[in-house]
Amino acid sequence: MIASDSTAAVRSWRPAQVPIRVGLIGLGHVGLGHHVPALLALPELVRVVAVADPSPGRRALTARALDLDGGSVHETPEALLGRDDVDVVDLATPPHVRTALAIEALGQGRAILCEKPIALTPADGLAIAAAAAASGAPAAIIHNWLALPEIVAARDAIAAGCIGLPEIAILNLLGVEDRPGSSGWQPNWRHDPAIAGGGVLMDMLHVVYVAEALLGRPFRRVSAEVLARTAGAPVEDIALCRFEADDGMALVNVGWGVGPGGIAVSGPDGRIEIGFEGGGTGPFARLQSVRLTRRDGRVEDRTPPLPPADGSIDVRVKETFREFFERLAAGQPPAATALDGVRALEATLGAYASAATGRTIDLPLASDDPVHRRGLAGLAELPLAPGGAIARQGIFGIGSGR
Ligand SMILES: NC(=O)c1ccc[n+]([C@@H]2O[C@H](COP(=O)([O-])OP(=O)(O)OC[C@H]3O[C@@H](n4cnc5c(N)ncnc54)[C@H](O)[C@@H]3O)[C@@H](O)[C@H]2O)c1
Repeated sequence: MIASDSTAAVRSWRPAQVPIRVGLIGLGHVGLGHHVPALLALPELVRVVAVADPSPGRRALTARALDLDGGSVHETPEALLGRDDVDVVDLATPPHVRTALAIEALGQGRAILCEKPIALTPADGLAIAAAAAASGAPAAIIHNWLALPEIVAARDAIAAGCIGLPEIAILNLLGVEDRPGSSGWQPNWRHDPAIAGGGVLMDMLHVVYVAEALLGRPFRRVSAEVLARTAGAPVEDIALCRFEADDGMALVNVGWGVGPGGIAVSGPDGRIEIGFEGGGTGPFARLQSVRLTRRDGRVEDRTPPLPPADGSIDVRVKETFREFFERLAAGQPPAATALDGVRALEATLGAYASAATGRTIDLPLASDDPVHRRGLAGLAELPLAPGGAIARQGIFGIGSGR
């Protein structure tokens, strides 16, 4: 039983030196495109001493970006983990290989910074948290959407009591771009349930932890339905979910496509609305406004400084990394831990379990629940709702649609 992964042992972990020596594993779009610039932006705190990726092209591009010599650039994660000069392992691989690497690194006494989702199954996520607790090394999850300026602005207004206790959050992300992975590996991995652990909802699991943060209390139950555009598709293209917390609910609608976007959260004293250009889905569409409407009808503009209109998408990895490394250097536990990652994963998988069975699912999942133990694969052990899309369309390779 793991009570917490921010135990006294983790709190006493310190890097051997500052700048902290980092090894980066996984040099794809997020590794090279977001982690490398975030690490380079912290020269006083961080030094990248080694990188690893099976793709020669990604290794070459990253070596150039970081000005690393050949001895610091590895083909396998095992070679990087065999070094004795890495204090923090930054895991930016696809999800299916991360658990073993995280547990190995933590067992060696190194801290980890892990991309989302924490793992493919809650059981694996808890094993990562247990390894952190056992070794005393911190395990952080990258929940970078909490640093998006519109989410910060909304949470600041909520914390200041502007709307009262949030009752309803509505998060529409029905215009998510279906972006392939980098061409050096398997660009279509987000459509392979064995690698990705789900479809668009798992890819956009960000919206699950953001919804919970807006409500400010944990989800207790979830009901959902999913849809695939073509029969026999391996994963869902659309997911509509209702997450229930104590005295509050979040409607979370996610889809690859061109549907509507926007976020609203309301309480007894007012509402906050976040809009994106053209009614699109942030952060793929540019932020347009954050508006607070008080109970008496007064409207306040709470829009933070707008991002540049150059088409780039800044998902605030730099801010997330700065916070992580500053806390690490100060001996403080991560702001978002492996257990936070497990909670978001469990809520997401609970939505799939609801879609599969046609029932409302209690959260957290029981430890003997097949979905807790096996993730998506555990759905096959549940009584499928025959009319539901998962059984009908054979999504995730289960049901009669296959
Ligand atoms: N936090 C965010 O905002 C954000 C944004 C994008 C992606 N992500 C997450 O980051 C992860 C990677 O996504 P991506 O878009 O960079 O994918 P990608 O396909 O572009 O890159 C994956 C990289 O991992 C490498 N790789 C594959 N197997 C490996 C192994 N065993 N060891 C080391 N490297 C291996 C591949 O060669 C490739 O370079 C995913 O979990 C994704 O959900 C997070």
